[in-house]
Amino acid sequence: MKIGILTGGGDCPGLNPVIRGIVRKANNEGHEVIGLRHGWRGLMEKEILLLDLNSISGILHKGGTILGTSRTNPYKSEDGAEKVKNGFKELGLDALIAIGGEDTLGVATKLYKEGVNVIGVPKTIDNDLCSTDFTFGFDTAVNVATECIDRLHTTAESHDRVMVVEVMGRHAGWIAAYSGIAGGADYILIPEIPINLEEVYTSLKKRHKRGKNFSIVVVSEGAAFDESELCLQEKELDQFGHVRLGGIGNMLGKLIEEKTGFETRVTVLGHIQRGGTPSAFDRVLGTRFGIKAYDLVNEGKFGQMACLQGNEIVSVPLEEATAELKTLDLKLYELAKTFFG
Ligand code: F6P
Repeated sequence: MKIGILTGGGDCPGLNPVIRGIVRKANNEGHEVIGLRHGWRGLMEKEILLLDLNSISGILHKGGTILGTSRTNPYKSEDGAEKVKNGFKELGLDALIAIGGEDTLGVATKLYKEGVNVIGVPKTIDNDLCSTDFTFGFDTAVNVATECIDRLHTTAESHDRVMVVEVMGRHAGWIAAYSGIAGGADYILIPEIPINLEEVYTSLKKRHKRGKNFSIVVVSEGAAFDESELCLQEKELDQFGHVRLGGIGNMLGKLIEEKTGFETRVTVLGHIQRGGTPSAFDRVLGTRFGIKAYDLVNEGKFGQMACLQGNEIVSVPLEEATAELKTLDLKLYELAKTFFG
């Protein structure tokens, strides 16, 4: 068999372990693997990278993706989907493994329905993909954010300040909730629940009244006062219709200082959360997903996505996995609230 692999959407730690897993197992069983460069663009333009034992040597611990990535949406150009299908044929592929988030896997779902032999692997630091308990990249992002919150604690405490930390999470508050709980945040704001400023002020004042002179507020980039008021860096949409989020932390910081009188500083973690070496958990999860994706190809189970359920790696139809987003389990938010104020 000749198997193609592509990585699409935002990069994330754990992509290289997936690629390595697929190539190693395919190679053991005598199959050829090629990489498509920069997501769907690689298949449209037939930009390839040979994936053999040499090219995957030493990549397990490396963040990002050796294939490169992009947010190219083939369905956005008139002949994009045709180009993808022609690329698949002309490169002599028997199967394609698409590693990506909601957008990349949304394209994979459509292509599968149009007859392409595709398998999906879920990736995103946001952890907002359905049908899988966790996506790889999330654990690393949470660890990075938690370490940053720990560091902010000591400087907040020394200066009697409120520290607002803006973390990623476009539609879901998984990173904010996990890093906030792990880092002992005094308030957490997530996209799933509209921001109630009065509650934030009351909670911080209550804490300061009981003698704590500093506070940590964690906010997801996608948190908003109401849905139509997302904070944007740019209004321009990408090919999947997404705006560039960012700025809610600064807006909150100003308001908190103004309304409570507590000196406030803001830190935006941004792409620091997405870069760098994957955690051990993400290396193992990525490797398990890679092996499962290869097995699905081998069994001819196309249109499926590898996923983690409990501690088992299983598969679900791509259509089911991409039907809706997995927002934060609000039970976790209730738990986090125990520590507010
Ligand atoms: O989809 C993951 C994510 O990290 C979001 O949380 C964030 O909004 C987005 O990617 C930013 O991606 P980029 O800057 O690469 O467009």
